[in-house]
Amino acid sequence: MRVLVLTGAGISAESGLPTFRGEDGLWEGHRVESVATPEAFASDPKLVYKFYNMRRLALKDVRPNAAHRALYKLEQALGEDFLLVTQNVDNLHDRCGHRRIRHMHGRLDEARNEAGDVIPWSRDLGPKDRCPTTGSRLRPNIVWFGEVPFHLDGVADFLQRCTVFCAIGTSGLVYPAANFAQVAWQQRTHTVEINLERTGGTFADTRRGRATKLVPQWVAELIERARWE
Ligand code: OAD
Repeated sequence: MRVLVLTGAGISAESGLPTFRGEDGLWEGHRVESVATPEAFASDPKLVYKFYNMRRLALKDVRPNAAHRALYKLEQALGEDFLLVTQNVDNLHDRCGHRRIRHMHGRLDEARNEAGDVIPWSRDLGPKDRCPTTGSRLRPNIVWFGEVPFHLDGVADFLQRCTVFCAIGTSGLVYPAANFAQVAWQQRTHTVEINLERTGGTFADTRRGRATKLVPQWVAELIERARWE
C-alpha cells in the first residue's frame, strides 16, 4: 500500500485556524485572494506583511489536533510508502514530527530572500528586514496566486505510484492540487475524501464530517489493512 494524503485548511480548522473560503475566510474586509498575490505585495507590501505576521503570530496559540496526530501515526506505520502533501502554510503537521511532508504553498515560519534562499523565521517580518547573508529584502516564503507551487515534480511522481489517495479538508478549488484527485481517479487509484461538506470532486469513498473524528478512524482502518498486506 502506498498512500498520498493531501490536506487543506479544513484539517486545521478545529485547532482554531480559519479556512480560506468559510464564513471566517475574510480578513479585515479583504478576500484572501486579493492579499495573497505578487501584485498586492508590489503595491501594498505593508498590508501583505501584516496579513502574514498575524497568521504567523496565530500559530503560537494553536496546537495540532487529533487529525494531524493520526496522519503522523500513518507515516510511522508506512514509512517511505507515505507522503503528506499540504496546501497549508501553518506548521501543525510539522509539529507532530513528520519527515515525509511537502508544503506546496510554502510555510509561515520561513522567509525567502531575493535569490530564493529560504531561512527559518518566527517573528514579525517587515520591509526593513534583510537577509543575514545577502542583505537582500525578505518576503514570506508563501506561494501566492499566479506563482508555481513547490515540489510539483516529486508530488506528481508519488501520485503516479500511489495506491490510495486521500483529500482531507480541502475545497478542491485551487489548482494544481485540485487536479490530484482526478489524476488518481483516472489511473484507478483508490480515492477517499474526508470533508465536512460536499465538494466538486469524484471519490470512491466519501466521508462527511469533522476531520478530528473521521481521520483517526480512517487511519486506524488503513493501518489494520496494511498489517495484512
Ligand atoms: P478552503 O477554505 O478552500 O476549504 C476548506 C475545506 O475544509 C472546505 O471544503 C470545508 O468544507 C472543509 N472543512 C472545514 N472544516 C472542516 C473540518 N473540521 N473537518 C473536515 N473538513 C473541514 O481551503 P483549501 O482547500 O485549503 O492557497 O484552500 C486551498 C488554497 O486556497 C489554500 O492553500 C490557499 C487558498 O487560497 C494559497 O494561499 C496559495
